[in-house]
Amino acid sequence: MRYEQRSNFCKPFWRSTFYLIAWTFLPLTFVLSVPHSGWTQEQSNKKLPCFIATWNFGQAATDKSLESASAGGSILDGVEQGIRIVEADRSNTSVGDGGTPAANGVVQLDACIMNGPGHAAGSVAGIEGIVHPISVARKVMEETKHVLLVGKGAQDFAVKQGFEVGSLLTPNRKAAWEKWKAEQGEKVDLPIGADNHDTIALVGVGNNKAGERVVAGGCSTSGLGYKMPGRVGDSPILGSGLYVDNEVGAAGATGIGENVMRYCSTFFIVEQMRAGKSPEEACVAAIQRVDRLDPLELKDLHINFLAIDKDGNVGAAGTDKGFQYSIARPGVSEVRQSKWVH
Ligand code: GLY
Repeated sequence: MRYEQRSNFCKPFWRSTFYLIAWTFLPLTFVLSVPHSGWTQEQSNKKLPCFIATWNFGQAATDKSLESASAGGSILDGVEQGIRIVEADRSNTSVGDGGTPAANGVVQLDACIMNGPGHAAGSVAGIEGIVHPISVARKVMEETKHVLLVGKGAQDFAVKQGFEVGSLLTPNRKAAWEKWKAEQGEKVDLPIGADNHDTIALVGVGNNKAGERVVAGGCSTSGLGYKMPGRVGDSPILGSGLYVDNEVGAAGATGIGENVMRYCSTFFIVEQMRAGKSPEEACVAAIQRVDRLDPLELKDLHINFLAIDKDGNVGAAGTDKGFQYSIARPGVSEVRQSKWVH
């Protein structure tokens, strides 16, 4: 075969090879070069599902959330299953069974849950005798036309849904409450501080079976120890203790509820992320806003936040130096220090 002939013979082969390589690598180059909230889509997908929760006791919860989602559960299932672990832990004195009672010696629990698709939500406040208020909140969301049930009405609803009622006051918490009560004079002293308000707020992001992105979250607490009976904090209030927006992400709070709920802090954080802030920047912005408006000094606010965006980027910030948060995603289970704002 003469050179010209061989050359003509090779042309279609090289042309096809060129197009094959171009069509394969050009889109990949594009994906890798486009910033996507700090992560490429490809990297982001590898990190999901992702769950974060307040405090180091949240690690058992986020591990459970990831286990549930990895076994085929929804992101919402992961949120509920994770929070149930902490609610059932009697050694935890600020959530669920074994929580610190109100001033009258009765444990009153608050919880809420939100599912991004459909912007669905359910809450219970001041519910007594039920170990898993997060699951009652989910029932409110899924089985009623309402969003928030309180007190006896919430308990009656729970019983109708098959939940058992019992005392949640452990001997340890009873003794501490009796000691506190004996120390009170005319004026009641409410021990407001970093060790008297630990809520679990847990938020997660992942894909459903159809490959659509889902954001969900939940929050559960026994509230401020020795609170006035009937006092409700931020945790069951949407936009205060928890907020989820499937277009953006989710945020959760822990701390003194009164200093969170007057500012709709988690709603504010989600809106800050919508406007382009990273999760950590959005949490810091929420604290700075409270600091500008509130008569209390930063060190006395005890407000701590965490947030996740819909790509799975996470962050947290708090006025309590020791505020930590837990994270679980494929290959990761750890407790992280949050940014301290002071
Ligand atoms: N953040 C819990 C409460 O204040 O009730």
